[in-house]
Formats: sequence, structure tokens, C-alpha cells
Amino acid sequence: MTPPLADLARRHGTPLYVYDLDAIGARAQQVTDQLGGTARRLFYACKANAHRAVLARVAAAGFGVEAASPGEAALALDCDVPADQVLLSATNARPRDLAAALERGLSVTLGAISDIRRVGALAPGREVLLRINPGVGDGSHPHVVTGGPHSKFGIPLEELAAAVDAAAAAGLVVRGLHAHIGSGIAEPTALLASARRLLEAAAGMPGVRVLDLGGGFAIPYRDGDREFDVAAYAGGLETLLAEFEARLPVRPELWFEPGRFVVGPAGYLVAEVMCRKESGGLTFIGLDTGMNHLLRPALYGAYHRIVNLSAPQALLESVEVVGNLCETTDVFASDRPIPRPEEGHLLAFLDVGAYGYSMASRYNLWPLPKEVALSGGREQT
Ligand SMILES: Cc1ncc(COP(=O)(O)O)c(C=O)c1O
Repeated sequence: MTPPLADLARRHGTPLYVYDLDAIGARAQQVTDQLGGTARRLFYACKANAHRAVLARVAAAGFGVEAASPGEAALALDCDVPADQVLLSATNARPRDLAAALERGLSVTLGAISDIRRVGALAPGREVLLRINPGVGDGSHPHVVTGGPHSKFGIPLEELAAAVDAAAAAGLVVRGLHAHIGSGIAEPTALLASARRLLEAAAGMPGVRVLDLGGGFAIPYRDGDREFDVAAYAGGLETLLAEFEARLPVRPELWFEPGRFVVGPAGYLVAEVMCRKESGGLTFIGLDTGMNHLLRPALYGAYHRIVNLSAPQALLESVEVVGNLCETTDVFASDRPIPRPEEGHLLAFLDVGAYGYSMASRYNLWPLPKEVALSGGREQT
């Protein structure tokens, strides 16, 4: 059931992000049912949505947290996620941040030989995961593909032997291999190809007990889009594990790091139409928000459904929905049929629970939008 967005917007003002915690709990449960189980661990990639109540709800469903920065790790700890369930994916990490993470007992995933040397110097004997670039990538847009040729992420497979040597020389124990090959992945094929490469690598590494296969599962954004089939992916992984059984010293524990899939559909951004004008044969609908609050359309050409909360039954009209920033790319939708929007109407963007507020900025010195999280129809703090 959609939350009472118009009421909330009237009470809190716009622009306003609204999160449905019960829907998030149900998504977390779905992932657990389809992907969890024995020798499986789930980590919520909180870069998707770092609202405290959201993180707490996903953690309450049994997820650990994948953190991309010291700030995200600190938030997870502050929300009472135990340190050993917080996984820091270090990218260009500062030594002092690595030292703090190790001191607090977080797990770390290292994606460069220089990080391996740094961690070895700080905490010899520690167990670490190595992030691999498995040579395959996938995603809904080139900017969200994080594996394959020319990717900045991870240790290329060709460098893995050197990385393992560096870890041994630094006194580290390589406990696991990790790959996260992209986001908004619609079909399991590339993820299974990546898993296969990790299994092949693990077959030659007796100490490896964990394969972290990252996240990346797509959600539907347009009417008719299909959701990533988590159950089919789980089935494909079982088949792969069976194929590798004889070649692996131990059956590895599988870890996953979904973000978007858990929270994306459960978020809304409500904005008010401030300006309606005709120009060059187009009708522009100007909102009191902009790409500073919802970057995905400008950054990835991403599509979000837009509903007119004030006049859902009005005749459809094709319009340009634009933001209030001094940027030409500040466009949410072009030639989009929406029930005729008038000044003062409230519009809602759907499926903005992931990479919405978490990518927001204060560009043009607009304040960040307000956020409200609901559970059982009640606002949570
Ligand atoms: C290392 C890592 N794991 C997991 C994720 C989550 O991806 P998604 O939200 O597509 O599931 C990301 C996203 O960038 C990531 O960088």
C-alpha cells in the first residue's frame, strides 16, 4: 500500500523523501528466503540508503552491513550492528581509516596491492577479503558497471597471484574473494560468470573460505520491467557449487551485498510544481527540487515513474519535468505523459529508495530534503 504521500508532504513540506519500512522489511525477508540459508551471509550495501531507521530495519532482518567509507561503517556501528558484521570495502583508503576499521574489528575487503601492504603493516595476521575484477561486468548503464576491462575496481585476475604473494609477505590471511560487478543487473548470467571465475580462483587457494559475490540486483523502474530473479540466481549458484565441489578444498560460504533490491521500491520523493510554462513548443513543469536531490536521471539517464498526487485522474499531458537548479541537465523526465500538472500540484517520484537521498548534495546551497520513514503507518525517528 502506498503511504499517504500528500498528507505527509502537507505536514512536512516539500521536497520530501518517504520510506516504507514495512516494505523494506518484506524485501529483506524475500532476499533472505531466496538467497540466505546455511553458509550464506547477507550484508546490506548501505550506500543505497543510509537513513538510520532503514539501516536498522534491514539489520533487524539479519543483515550485516557493507560499508563503502568510514562514515558508513560508523553509522552501522552506531546503529548497533556488531563490528564483525560490518564489512568495509576499501577504495583508495586512507591508512588512518584502515587502522580505525581494523582496531574496531571490522572485516575489510581490499582491492589493491597497496592496501594489502598497508593493512599487513598495521595488523599482521589479520584475515582479509580480496576484491577481484573478474573480467566481467554488467549493469543498467555504463556508469554503474564495476567489473571488466578498464574498471577501476578490484585486483585484476591476472594480478591475483601477485596480490596473494603480497598478502603472504605482509602476514595477512586471505580468507575470501570478493567481486561486485555492477548495479541494476537484470539477468543472473554475468553474476554467475563472475561467480565461476571466483570459484576457479578459489580452487587454487586452500585458505579461501568465503566468496562474496556482491550485489547488483535490478528492480523494475518502468511499467513492464522485470525484477531480478533472485531465486533463479540462487539455483544457478547451487549448480555451480555442485560442479566445483570436487575441486574445492571446502565448500565456501557465500556472501551477498544487495542494496538497491532491498530498498529501491520502498522510497518516494514528493515535490511541488512551482512553475508551469510553455517554451519552444514544450511544456515545462518546474519543481521545488532538482538533480541535487535526485541525481539518477541526470547521471545515468535513469527513469523514475512520476505520479500526480493532486490530480491523478486528470487528462494525460506530455511534459518536461525539470528541477530548480542552474543546470541544463537538471531534467527528471522529457516528453513524459503525466496527468496534467498545475502549479501547486504535488508530484511523486517512485522507486527512489536507493541512491536517491544518499546521492543528494547541497548544490546551489539548497538544503537537503527532509526524510520520513514509516512503519505500521506511523512515523519513525
Ligand atoms: C562493493 C559493493 N557492494 C554492493 C553494492 C550494492 O549494489 P546494488 O545496490 O546494486 O545491489 C555496491 C554498489 O555500488 C558496491 O559498490
